[in-house]
Amino acid sequence: MDSTTFDQRATQRAHTVAVVGLGYVGLPLAVAFAETGYPTIGFDVSQGAVNGLNSGVSHIDDVPNERVAALVKAGVFKASTESAVLGDANVVFICVPTPFDKAKTPDLSYVQAATESVAAHLSKGSLVILQSTTYPGTTTEFVKPILERGGMKAGVDFHLAFSPERVDPGNTQWGIGNTPKVVGGLTEECTRRSVSLLATLMTSADLVHPVKSPAIAEMCKLLENTYRAVNIAFVNELAQICHEMQIDVWDVIKAASTKPFGFQAFYPGIGPGGHCIPVDPHYLAWKAREFEFNTRFIELAADINSQMASYVVWRIQELLNRSGKSLSGSTILCLGAAFKAGVSDVRNSRAIHVMELLQKQGATISYCDPHVPNVKIGDVELSSLDSTKLATAKFDAVAVLVGASNWPMTELEETGKPIFDAVNAGGAPNGQRERL
Ligand SMILES: NC(=O)c1ccc[n+]([C@@H]2O[C@H](COP(=O)([O-])OP(=O)(O)OC[C@H]3O[C@@H](n4cnc5c(N)ncnc54)[C@H](O)[C@@H]3O)[C@@H](O)[C@H]2O)c1
Repeated sequence: MDSTTFDQRATQRAHTVAVVGLGYVGLPLAVAFAETGYPTIGFDVSQGAVNGLNSGVSHIDDVPNERVAALVKAGVFKASTESAVLGDANVVFICVPTPFDKAKTPDLSYVQAATESVAAHLSKGSLVILQSTTYPGTTTEFVKPILERGGMKAGVDFHLAFSPERVDPGNTQWGIGNTPKVVGGLTEECTRRSVSLLATLMTSADLVHPVKSPAIAEMCKLLENTYRAVNIAFVNELAQICHEMQIDVWDVIKAASTKPFGFQAFYPGIGPGGHCIPVDPHYLAWKAREFEFNTRFIELAADINSQMASYVVWRIQELLNRSGKSLSGSTILCLGAAFKAGVSDVRNSRAIHVMELLQKQGATISYCDPHVPNVKIGDVELSSLDSTKLATAKFDAVAVLVGASNWPMTELEETGKPIFDAVNAGGAPNGQRERL
């Protein structure tokens, strides 16, 4: 397919788009392509997810059942666990997990398996775009050789690019259509085709930002997430210094935020969770070691952020001590269990880690998170309390671990029990409520 035909087919929504990996990143992307009018195929190894989607049930918070059901009914979207369906596609996105192992070494096994599936059904003229977050060089050093195993050459017989995903689960303001998209192809033509295709998803074509190579696009994503990790760590450290100096860190941040240039507010907390901020910087650190480079900022930030859970437990203990109670034997009502507000995702949830640490200190845990009905803390299975009846629950202290605009802070304060607020949920502190 020549260049002009490719663009025309994008304009006519005539490309068949396949998305490999239908999770937090892949499903919204597949739905966006299908809603834009492209025949769209989803390939995932999870039979449960695929069965659900084909019967109109979404497993991702941000994608309501109705949207999936409408697309399945209209025949523009179908999911499958059979990789053979990839043979029908001429555009393929890879959106599979990129975790690390216990030694913080990148685990590219999902990318490898997914790429092998794509390679087995790759047709001439296809465009393959990797979206999984990874270290610079993955597209050219890892993905390209697998795709070329069948004898076709990237940049000649098929096209290859990397485009980082910026989806922010739970964010109702910034979605696929209005969040600028970066893409870097192996060749100029790979980039050009990727831009032409991605532009059809955006509210404005100029929201696609081409870069000169896949490595720039890969590093761009790591810069974005490492920037957050480092700044969150810095403000977490500042919060600890401020506590010692009896200065309110939240007031300090509010004051600094009045500066209209050169300052961006980050807020302290129990440490960033999820599968991005605590994971992605380690991909960069790992790759940097190949160049005999020690990424000190990344290691330090990870260290400070991971210590925040223990620090918060210590502060809760301190708060209880002041009212003559010990952590051991107390019941702590924890607010929030997901890795961030408004989502059900508990991967690397620091709130759950704080609950585990509290339990290890002899506390009994109860919790509330309307998005997370059950959690397991140690050997104990817990169910979320009803968020409208928290004030009448049995507890000795409250720990607000995850932000939410509707925690019943006033009612909880009226109980007179100590409250440790790690996320500034209740505004200025008062007698029994203390902020991080
Ligand atoms: N979730 C986010 O907010 C976010 C944001 C930006 C970037 N990312 C990155 O995007 C990538 C995907 O993340 P996610 O959160 O969507 O993961 P996820 O775990 O929600 O979804 C991944 C999906 O891939 C499927 N899968 C695994 N191996 C497969 C294979 N070989 N073939 C087909 N399907 C396979 C899984 O069954 C799962 O449904 C990761 O690299 C992540 O770092 C995630």
